[in-house]
Amino acid sequence: MHPRNRLFILAALAYGLLGGALGLVWLAYPGLVPGNVPRIHAHLMLLGFVTMMIYGVGLHVLPRFSGRALFSERLGHAQFLLANLGLLLMVAGWLVLHNPTVAAGGLMAWAAMALFAFNIALTVRHYGPRGA
Ligand code: HEM
Ligand code: HEM
Repeated sequence: MHPRNRLFILAALAYGLLGGALGLVWLAYPGLVPGNVPRIHAHLMLLGFVTMMIYGVGLHVLPRFSGRALFSERLGHAQFLLANLGLLLMVAGWLVLHNPTVAAGGLMAWAAMALFAFNIALTVRHYGPRGA
């Protein structure tokens, strides 16, 4: 497995554990963590755990399903940086309730999705004779 894809999966597991712990802390001590905690929890789980897992598994498996190499490993690296920095920036923005920071992080997270979409679409697109 490509080290970047392994990192995506490890990051997903870490975000899942962090998001889950945050939910538990929030239930036990409401007020302890500042900012918009449900929003942070939701996006650590959905952008962090679920989406990063899809990125890691997708970048590994979809080229193999389609029988050819990933269109661009470099786009995959850029996607990794944007996805992680974007999510962390969104979390930081929600912690201090600063919407422009959330928006900047959100733009990076969206750009990571766009790179993934472009890279995977060009990897799985039909190249050969019909029916292949
Ligand atoms: C590890 C176990 C988890 C714990 C302890 C936990 C805990 C919580 C808590 C305490 C809330 C707030 C409920 C309220 O508004 O009163 C919440 C909301 C939420 N959780 Fe979780 N959760 C867990 C796993 C997950 C997972 C796996 C996902 C998604 C993949 C998820 C997605 C959400 C979403 C979308 C909300 C709504 C946030 C909002 O109202 O703004 N949670 N969770
Ligand atoms: C490009 C990345 C994303 C950005 C910029 C973003 C931004 C936001 C914002 C600003 C809100 C709050 C809306 C409000 O104030 O009412 C929100 C809520 C929500 N988002 Fe996202 N989001 C992103 C990705 C995702 C993904 C990938 C999922 C699910 C797979 C998701 C699930 C949710 C859910 C369930 C809520 C409502 C729960 C809550 O109140 O926290 N988001 N999102």
